[in-house]
Amino acid sequence: MEIFHISAECYPMAKVGGLADVVGALPKYQQNAGHQVRVVVPCYDTKFKNENDFECVHWGNIKLGDFDFLFSVLKERTDKLGYELYLIEIKELFDRPNIYGYEDDIERFLSFQIAVLDWIIARKKNPDIINCHDHHTGLIPFIIKYSYKYEILSKIRTVITIHNGLYQGWFGYDKLHYIPEFDLKHVGFLEWNNSLNSLAVAVKCAHAVTTVSPSYLDEINISANGLEALFNMTRGKSKGILNGIDIEVWNPLKDKMLETHYSIENFEIGKQKNKEKLCERFDLDPAKPLFSFIGRLFNEKGGDLLPQASALALSENFENINILILGSGNPDIEKQLLQLREDYKGNYNVFIGYNEELAHLIYAGSDFILMPSRVEPCGLNQMYALRYGTIPIVRRTGGLRDTVIDFGDNGNGICHDQASVGDVCYSINRAVSLYDNKDNFNSIIKKGMSIDHSWERVCQEYIEIYNQIIQKHEN
Ligand code: GLC
Repeated sequence: MEIFHISAECYPMAKVGGLADVVGALPKYQQNAGHQVRVVVPCYDTKFKNENDFECVHWGNIKLGDFDFLFSVLKERTDKLGYELYLIEIKELFDRPNIYGYEDDIERFLSFQIAVLDWIIARKKNPDIINCHDHHTGLIPFIIKYSYKYEILSKIRTVITIHNGLYQGWFGYDKLHYIPEFDLKHVGFLEWNNSLNSLAVAVKCAHAVTTVSPSYLDEINISANGLEALFNMTRGKSKGILNGIDIEVWNPLKDKMLETHYSIENFEIGKQKNKEKLCERFDLDPAKPLFSFIGRLFNEKGGDLLPQASALALSENFENINILILGSGNPDIEKQLLQLREDYKGNYNVFIGYNEELAHLIYAGSDFILMPSRVEPCGLNQMYALRYGTIPIVRRTGGLRDTVIDFGDNGNGICHDQASVGDVCYSINRAVSLYDNKDNFNSIIKKGMSIDHSWERVCQEYIEIYNQIIQKHEN
């Protein structure tokens, strides 16, 4: 079947978080399974865009209320990513370095969605499935169902995949006229709690809803930033599918970003070499257990717990542990983390920013990875860590609950229930004892390294849903 994935992010073209990793990998495995897969993202001014070769396959202009924009559709020439990658170029809106965070984000992503649909009409061939990802693409299921101009697309089956339900793409009625003309009796689909809500629209109008882990689907029925009741109502067409990871990119035996390659056969020496490299770069001690955090420094990820938890764990275990943090986000958290450098020189360090290469080295060279998330729809870092022989320390929530089981229950990691400084420090103390018991420590590492989180297994679950909604609506 022909499948379109529409998203704001896709690795390596444009990445802020895990959404990019999923949209960069799942399509490759669907294509390998025999489908024709196209991924469409906006054309931002990124390194990938500037270093690769594209051809223009379509151009036109769209109307957004009173604005007119020219757009082009650029195709990556080589298909080297394993699927066809298309960029929607709208210079005024996307020729900027960042993906999100502009005042006109609503205008940007609405224009993107309209341009994608105009292009699909111009192709004169409907795909079987449009899989939208998160709220930035949430209006597509509505527009193709109800906007007059897009009636020809109305038979296409749509799926909304929720990677993060906290962000919903709200906007006011003053922007209602941006949406291509439709019969006003359908306006109720656009609204949730007195505002227009892109994610709610998608959940109401798509033929199927998927979340990126089964536990997250259970959780959003209870807590979903105002959408709980909607998720309850649409439970019948929803399914939680645990994300996979790209085991070709994430392979400690071949990863070009590592100092030394290794596998489950020789991880002890391999990891030690990577740890030495990391410790040298960050002035840490390779003889001590290394706890790392990689990710966005926001409350959602438990980033606010890190300064205090690090200070407490380091003062309790001083001279016994190292902590290394890679991330960026809330400026207050960043500042507090930077300040700690003075007090715990030689045992602690932080790198503020996003650095893919360094992240790979940290997975390889660390002993434990910290994920004290308050909300974690799936979480990929714990899966990367497991594959690289690094024991995850997680709060039991969302996808973390589905992938990490405490070693006390014969599992592969360390779990705690509260997103609190106390729980994080308690887990670090348990980890220090585990580290000292090398047989136990190594056997847990091996258990983690042998888990199969590849997309091959998972991508079939998406295809099953696509087939179900195609058949259901044919009858
Ligand atoms: C979002 C979620 C994260 C998930 C990722 C990919 O970034 O916060 O938990 O793993 O999307 O689905």
